[in-house]
Amino acid sequence: MPSRDRKKIQEEREKRNRLAYIGTLAAGLVHEVRTPLNAIQLNAQLIEEDIEILEPKLREKFSRRINRVTNQISEVVKTLNEFLTFARPPRMDSVPTDLNHFLKEILEFSNPEFKDYGITIKSNLADDMYPVILDKGQFTHVMLNIFRNACEACKMSKKQNPWVCVSTFEEDRKIKIQVDDNGVGIQPGKENEIFELFYSTKEKGTGLGLGIVRRIIEEHGGTINAEDLPEAGARFNIILPKGKFLEFKDE
Ligand SMILES: Nc1ncnc2c1ncn2[C@@H]1O[C@H](COP(=O)(O)OP(=O)(O)O)[C@@H](O)[C@H]1O
Ligand SMILES: [Mg+2]
Repeated sequence: MPSRDRKKIQEEREKRNRLAYIGTLAAGLVHEVRTPLNAIQLNAQLIEEDIEILEPKLREKFSRRINRVTNQISEVVKTLNEFLTFARPPRMDSVPTDLNHFLKEILEFSNPEFKDYGITIKSNLADDMYPVILDKGQFTHVMLNIFRNACEACKMSKKQNPWVCVSTFEEDRKIKIQVDDNGVGIQPGKENEIFELFYSTKEKGTGLGLGIVRRIIEEHGGTINAEDLPEAGARFNIILPKGKFLEFKDE
């Protein structure tokens, strides 16, 4: 093996070890921080009950302040939970999966959220597709994150007829999932940056969603990229390898 390749493999291994170490540290830290936060949350709720004896004006004033505290704590807990998902050491439990059926189930499950936003779901699924090897739990997380982002982008754009469209394609040795929306679109030049951890353009965003999404897809041997659709909003392309065990089909 050329020494250049050896060096690259060594670097990859070191990077993985470093990430695993950071992951362990982060998971420990998250557990440590969550316990006192729960205690703060609980006490704030108790104060809310205690102030019921105050006169209405004061009660309302204190209640508003307590609400602000509890809302901020909820935000921190949400970020910590998302971070924990990211820090979790990768452990795949993959099975051959009928992708179209899997996507239909997730769309059904997400239906109330789309309805809340008044969003029409369109789908354009390829016929008779090769199975893909998926960790269904992790991949559900991927699709829900992408759909939630699409909903949020549609909500922000305030267009009359918001829609999200999910398509699947079968290519030579690959399967593609495409998710389009007619939301606000991606800022020019930010198509790669949006996958970085903590990148967010939302007031209450954590910027963790797409970082986790990309990592899970890469663990599946796939890739993801994003494009801005000038006539609509954003497009996300997920490319996955076809289930290897079926490759003999055309031989
Ligand atoms: N469908 C989309 N349309 C437009 N921008 C998007 C879309 N999905 C993601 N983004 C951009 O990518 C950023 C990062 O997304 P994400 O990692 O899920 O974090 P968050 O949703 O917490 O902001 C978002 O803040 C937004 O700027
Ligand atoms: Mg998100």
